[in-house]
Amino acid sequence: MQKKVDFLVIGSGLAGLSYALKVADYGKVCILTKTNIEETNTRYAQGGIASVTYEPDSYEKHIKDTLVAGAGLCDEEIVKIVVREAPSRIQELIDIGAEFDKKNNGEYDLAKEGGHSEHRILHHKDNTGNEIERVLIECVKKHKNIEILEYHFAIDIITQHHLGYTVIKHQPDIICFGVYALNMQTNNIETILAKITYMATGGIGNVYHITTNPTIATGDGIAMAHRARAIIENMEFVQFHPTSLYNPNERPSFLITEAMRGFGGILKTIDGHEFMHKYDKRGSLAPRDIVARAIDNEMKIRGEDFVYLDVTHCNSNELIAHFPNIYEKCLSLDIDITKQYIPVVPAAHYTCGGIKVDNNGKTTINNLFAGGECACTGLHGANRLASNSLLEAVVFAHRSAELSTNIFKEINYNEKIPDWNDEGTSLPEEMILITQEFKELQQIMTNYVGIVRSNLRIKRAFDRLELLFKETEMLFDCSTVSVKICELRNAISIGYVILKTAKRRRESRGLHYNIDFPKQLIT
Ligand code: FAD
Ligand code: SIN
Repeated sequence: MQKKVDFLVIGSGLAGLSYALKVADYGKVCILTKTNIEETNTRYAQGGIASVTYEPDSYEKHIKDTLVAGAGLCDEEIVKIVVREAPSRIQELIDIGAEFDKKNNGEYDLAKEGGHSEHRILHHKDNTGNEIERVLIECVKKHKNIEILEYHFAIDIITQHHLGYTVIKHQPDIICFGVYALNMQTNNIETILAKITYMATGGIGNVYHITTNPTIATGDGIAMAHRARAIIENMEFVQFHPTSLYNPNERPSFLITEAMRGFGGILKTIDGHEFMHKYDKRGSLAPRDIVARAIDNEMKIRGEDFVYLDVTHCNSNELIAHFPNIYEKCLSLDIDITKQYIPVVPAAHYTCGGIKVDNNGKTTINNLFAGGECACTGLHGANRLASNSLLEAVVFAHRSAELSTNIFKEINYNEKIPDWNDEGTSLPEEMILITQEFKELQQIMTNYVGIVRSNLRIKRAFDRLELLFKETEMLFDCSTVSVKICELRNAISIGYVILKTAKRRRESRGLHYNIDFPKQLIT
């Protein structure tokens, strides 16, 4: 039996849940999520959400900081839209119950992060994402028009391709009719038809070996859109967070929020020397790409596995009050951050690129919208400013919802969609092949297409990935569908698109640093 809904939302993070809530008063909504509803990148967000709140901050300053971080590749119109619409969208989160920390005088306690010229980050201690996710989940669970399907893995977007037509890349009349999804509890593949599909599948962190992203972040939505021939943009700009906790056996890597550097934290080498001023006059609070590269460089020239973040000079009580989760986490590893330095390493954190969308979140495929981390709106350009991604997710969810609710009544279901074709797929998956290929992919991407790249490394990675791609496609074609093989296939596609865009960019810019197109590392 085929399910039919007005709005199909793939993903239960900030983008997916915000959109679902906004369209639910107009029609039937179904939210798919591949594990439980809570497990999202959103839930792990620590630092907060950027917005202009009080003077002397201004829209102009937030716009300028975003443009500077984006290294000349932001879409200025989009930056203006997001910055100016921020206060209204954040007020809506507050209205449904999200709590952001306040000072004794009742004003919001705004934090500062790298690249921001003012204090403008609204936060809930050091677990802002969890607080936002909490209120949104409460609301979607109460809404009678919203059905939540947990443990449902979206495999592919349904387009004319599934009706037997050849669909060519970037063809303007491709239509999305819904998705095929694996019900992980029954192992059946279900066909879900929708008037509008909203892709909100989040990030790609697990394409790399060390990442702050939970294991759900395998780039599924971007890979599905790529297979369906949507335009994918800016994938060479992978953001590495400078400071994840150095704890080699832990996956995902636990984040040490940038807000700690905003609070006074200083990066130091293992022998206790501050080094950031060698690289940038803003020191430890320089934009993320500069700090991550500087740490990478220090580790390489010194042959060391981590650097330290020193917050021992900060007021202990205030430190613990602001960062209770980080304090507890470090203490569980016998590190008392009020007295000891925190060992940190950079980790893959965020993709600035994704499915190209317009200023209402519409992709290049008809009836397919995308939002949150899997979308490329033009806000981040070559490097995202800290705490601008939660903001982007909520601003664009609103814009997409407004357009979707205006147009969905004009869209008809396609009654001719066949069920998933599993002809010739009888082999049970070979787990050893899948896990080994995933590890290989992560090694290749980390070693050759990480923080620092070169033409030779990119070429080598390309050659290696081509082989992995062919082997995985062969395995996929003869195996019964499983989450693991789909994730591997998707992650390899993401690696391929990152490499393709990295190869095409004949310069170093923002997060894409290629030593064959040098720019001054030490300013
Ligand atoms: P997510 O929240 O990642 O949700 C993705 C959803 O899609 C999940 O429900 C997942 O299960 C589902 N999904 C994925 N694939 C499939 C599939 N095939 N089928 C079905 N469902 C699928 N940004 C900030 O602005 N401020 C911060 O302070 C901040 N801190 C961060 C800290 C950490 C540790 C991390 C990892 C990120 C942080 N970010 C921060 C980035 C920000 O959290 C994310 O960019 C944002 O939450 C992404 O939201 P989203 O809704 O796009 O995706
Ligand atoms: C952090 O808290 O450092 C992460 C903020 C972000 O990724 O925007």
